[in-house]
Amino acid sequence: MSSPSAVRDAPEHIRDLLVRLHAESKQQEESLTRDDYTNDQSMHDLMRDKFIALNEDKAHYIYQLLRATGATTIVEAGTSFGVSTIYLALAACANAAVASGKTPLVIATEYEPTKAARARENWQQCGSEIVSAIDLREGDLLDTLKINIMDVDFLLLDIWTPLALPTLKLVQPHLRHGALVIADNTVSAAKNYQEFIDYVRAPDSGFIDTVVPFAGGLEVLVYAPSQ
Ligand SMILES: C[S@@+](CC[C@H](N)C(=O)[O-])C[C@H]1O[C@@H](n2cnc3c(N)ncnc32)[C@H](O)[C@@H]1O
Repeated sequence: MSSPSAVRDAPEHIRDLLVRLHAESKQQEESLTRDDYTNDQSMHDLMRDKFIALNEDKAHYIYQLLRATGATTIVEAGTSFGVSTIYLALAACANAAVASGKTPLVIATEYEPTKAARARENWQQCGSEIVSAIDLREGDLLDTLKINIMDVDFLLLDIWTPLALPTLKLVQPHLRHGALVIADNTVSAAKNYQEFIDYVRAPDSGFIDTVVPFAGGLEVLVYAPSQ
């Protein structure tokens, strides 16, 4: 019996690529000891050649949520080598194919030029449909996400923890009612996420919040402010 795969409907060469990239990322992570994401120069230096890709089970879950909600406009905070972005683009393309008048758009963000280049190489291997769905914005996302964003269905926060709240506040005005926001590792990095957690769990925040018990915790928020 084959194992469950959320992306069973994706082309085989993309599934194979994802398996290889996850394996490489996992191997790298096993040799990393640091778990405090600080957003300073030492952090950037250490992580310059590291994937830190979203775990495969979380990526599959996110793909399912995206397919269930029909998301076609997606923002990804923290792209690295573009592994999670492939799932987001697969879902956006599949959703747009069955919705009239929708164009898939995944706004990806990466600060390190070498990582952005690796991400583009990985997407190139997926093919032109995936490549053309992704708008990779290179540079500090607190600048690059200031413009040309609207009607966001889904925001993935897979970024150094100090950036999670500023990024959410930047994108929040562009979230559609009912949009999903997901933040990774909010349990294992709870201390560093404290301000973010206080903000989204405040009674009048407009966010409906739950934590899905994947390793490290996966914060799932629905943006449903009262009118
Ligand atoms: C955890 S990794 C993202 C992993 C990716 N989502 C995946 O699953 O493959 C976070 C990434 O955010 C990038 N980053 C850090 N600070 C940034 C900033 N200010 N603007 C844009 N990207 C940034 C880092 O270079 C790193 O590659």
